[in-house]
Amino acid sequence: MIGGGYVGLVSGACFAAFGVNVRLVEADRARLAALREGRIPIYEPGLDDLVAENVAAGRLQFGDDLEYGVDGAEAVFIAVGTPSRRGDGHADLSFVYAVAEQVARAMTDYTVIVTKSTVPVGTGRRIAEIVQAIRPGLDFDVASNPEFLREGSAIGDFMRPDRVVIGAETDRARAVLRTLYRPLYLIETPIVFTGIETAELTKYAANAFLATKISFINEVATLCEKVGADVHDVARGIGLDGRIGSKFLHAGPGFGGSCFPKDTLALARIGQDAGAPLRLVETVVSVNDARKASMGPRIMAGCGGSVRGLTVAVLGLTFKPDTDDMRDAPSIPVIWHLFGDGARLRLFDPVGMAQARAMMPDGVVWCHDALDAATGADVLVVLTEWKEFRALDPEALKAKMAGTTIFDLRNIFDPAAMRAAGFRYFSIGRPNPAPAETQRSASRPAASRVPA
Ligand SMILES: NC(=O)c1ccc[n+]([C@@H]2O[C@H](COP(=O)([O-])OP(=O)(O)OC[C@H]3O[C@@H](n4cnc5c(N)ncnc54)[C@H](O)[C@@H]3O)[C@@H](O)[C@H]2O)c1
Repeated sequence: MIGGGYVGLVSGACFAAFGVNVRLVEADRARLAALREGRIPIYEPGLDDLVAENVAAGRLQFGDDLEYGVDGAEAVFIAVGTPSRRGDGHADLSFVYAVAEQVARAMTDYTVIVTKSTVPVGTGRRIAEIVQAIRPGLDFDVASNPEFLREGSAIGDFMRPDRVVIGAETDRARAVLRTLYRPLYLIETPIVFTGIETAELTKYAANAFLATKISFINEVATLCEKVGADVHDVARGIGLDGRIGSKFLHAGPGFGGSCFPKDTLALARIGQDAGAPLRLVETVVSVNDARKASMGPRIMAGCGGSVRGLTVAVLGLTFKPDTDDMRDAPSIPVIWHLFGDGARLRLFDPVGMAQARAMMPDGVVWCHDALDAATGADVLVVLTEWKEFRALDPEALKAKMAGTTIFDLRNIFDPAAMRAAGFRYFSIGRPNPAPAETQRSASRPAASRVPA
């Protein structure tokens, strides 16, 4: 397994749990040092125990020596990053191709080189050309085995997936992958065998479809706000239709994370290059960019046009709960916007603060829990729906805050309960306080605004 990030480490540990001997090669010194010391460099529930068990059983090893990793391996998985290329939005394949060259040099016997990373159509063919050019005559196959796990539930997703997609073109390659996934055959997981291009495209199509669902419900939410409808009820009313399904119909501040933003953009570019533009996907990209950018102004408008001089508490920084991943998180543009307008910011996230620090403005206050963040705040903004925020008692929040304005961008609170507690409560796709009410929230005497 080449690459020990969210996908490589989870996949490596899960294959080891299936009984496979896994050598995981990680280039980042800090990540590797952590793994070797028995620490998990990312936050993923359950991963620490799974890794520890399999290291102890001798089935999972970590190193930076790719030659040792590849030596004698029946399959080599490439699980390195494929971020957006600066400037044009194409997937940056430099890490993938660099690994392909290294693997070609290191291979000793027949190996299946498998892309686990999300890679554009044609990448598998290009890897085959690279390997062939470096080691003509060497026996190998290339396969595509895209990963569908979700951060936060990655182990369950890998161990009990809805399906496994394998793009392979020889019986020998298919046999190697079938053996690796044998435990999933036993639980009757559908395994979809395809060509390499089809498997590569399937991953992008899946992510683009899910991202489209999110953008769809986000636009419906805005319409709900204008016409007095409730997006929760609309989502339930359509989601119960089996043809639609209830998942990915939660309105919010726009999708973020390490996959949807870069993969929708990359798929749009793949379509343009192939002469088959995906207008829907292109629109999803721009709708989502606009959505994320609109959240700062939405908060300012609710505060009477500006947050200058106001203390704003932000609960949640990661792009979703149960991960420390900050890549493309909606919190980033929102916080910079409020900061730029002159807000004093008090930030808290249960696990993402170490990752977030490098991405946030200097001068924000880092808090140790939700109530600490709320202390003395004029305005409270919920940006990630961590479970512990759902359980917050409105009265406890009220006692800590100086003001009474809440922007719940994830709809985690009950509007009636928040209004009953005396909050000016703004949420997404539901009735919000009338514009006439939207004035600066410094409604209490100045003395009460001093943090306790
Ligand atoms: N994160 C997810 O939820 C998820 C889900 C499905 C698919 N994917 C895809 O999987 C791929 C990896 O994503 P990720 O989130 O794990 O990325 P990541 O950045 O967390 O991990 C990639 C790792 O590869 C290492 N690496 C880079 N070059 C290397 C080399 N030459 N040798 C050894 N290690 C090297 C990096 O140091 C890093 O630790 C991407 O293509 C992504 O789109 C991600």
